Amino acid sequence: MIYQIINTLLKKADPELAHSLAIKFLKNNFLPLQLFTSKTSKKLEMNLLGKTFNSPVGLAAGFDKNAEIYNSIYKLGFGFAEIGTVTPLPQSGNPKPRVFRLSEDKGIINRLGFPSEGMVKVKETIQQNKPTGIFGINIGPNKESISKIEDYLQCLEYFCDCCDYICINISSPNTPNLRDLHEKNKIEELLTSIKLKQKTLNNKTPILLKISPDISDANISELSAIILQQKIDGVVLTNTTITRNKDIISLNKNEVGGLSGKPLFDVSNEIIKKFYSILKNQVPIIGAGGVTDGQTALAKIKSGASLLQLYTSFVYEGPYIANKINGELEDLLQSEGYETLKDAVGKDCI
Ligand SMILES: Cc1cc2nc3c(=O)[nH]c(=O)nc-3n(C[C@H](O)[C@H](O)[C@H](O)COP(=O)(O)O)c2cc1C
Repeated sequence: MIYQIINTLLKKADPELAHSLAIKFLKNNFLPLQLFTSKTSKKLEMNLLGKTFNSPVGLAAGFDKNAEIYNSIYKLGFGFAEIGTVTPLPQSGNPKPRVFRLSEDKGIINRLGFPSEGMVKVKETIQQNKPTGIFGINIGPNKESISKIEDYLQCLEYFCDCCDYICINISSPNTPNLRDLHEKNKIEELLTSIKLKQKTLNNKTPILLKISPDISDANISELSAIILQQKIDGVVLTNTTITRNKDIISLNKNEVGGLSGKPLFDVSNEIIKKFYSILKNQVPIIGAGGVTDGQTALAKIKSGASLLQLYTSFVYEGPYIANKINGELEDLLQSEGYETLKDAVGKDCI
């Protein structure tokens, strides 16, 4: 009851204020976490990146930018948490307002521009509160960076010994020219440098690449070839979109920034299917974009994702979202005749 009142108030508040209050509640265990204690089924288990994920549902990057609440997230039924995007130096991001709800469409537009406490402070926070679950760190360059590649390498070196995977974010639409890194020559240079750096560090932390949904089929082929060639451990598909479907009705639809949530669902599924048709079982896909319930989760798995991430439905549905999806997924597996979730991966692509 108290939680429902809090949730209603949060949905009416300014989105960034609501987010910082949610972070405070989670950080201080203000929510009755025991109510959300997770019960996951063996049928949902996924073995990837050298780990066993007891739920396929992860928290997407952007929610816990500065590594404040990941240990609460595991208690809410999430199988993993990705913090960040973290930049080498602290930066405040773009001027406010920069986050907009599209409530009628169950979407969000953000143009945050990587506000980050910077890698030094974030690592201190992690060291004071060791992760109790599977823990990824999403890294990106500073806005004023002279060399974006150098920024990724610095963060990689700084974080590679304190997480289960590193996610290279080249796909935020809110950092000028960041998405240029999808170009064949640029991504080749970036991934070669990352692999070389790991070799010199003698480090084997899995490397994931987070990709934009706003790319051409030709670019999907190029990126896939480089991902295979460089033995990248996984891809996160997708970040937010700068496109606006004509069906979107919310007043905020013309705000500049990346759109997430329900309007991104089909767009990201199409991209997942296209990558899956090339990468198949060689490189696992983490699917993000409009996952809100068991149906949408299973559709993404059938499109080719082995794991999932969500952000926007946490905002609209509340902290029980992962547990709800886990339960619904289990029922759906049974009703659709799948023994385990693994059996459903890519089934809509065959
Ligand atoms: C407010 C907001 C901030 C975000 N910040 C980041 C970020 O810092 N780094 C990143 O890789 N993705 C970021 N994302 C994108 C999400 O991680 C995710 O890829 C996208 O929102 C699609 O998932 P969803 O539809 O479940 O929200 C952000 C999304 C939102 C809504």
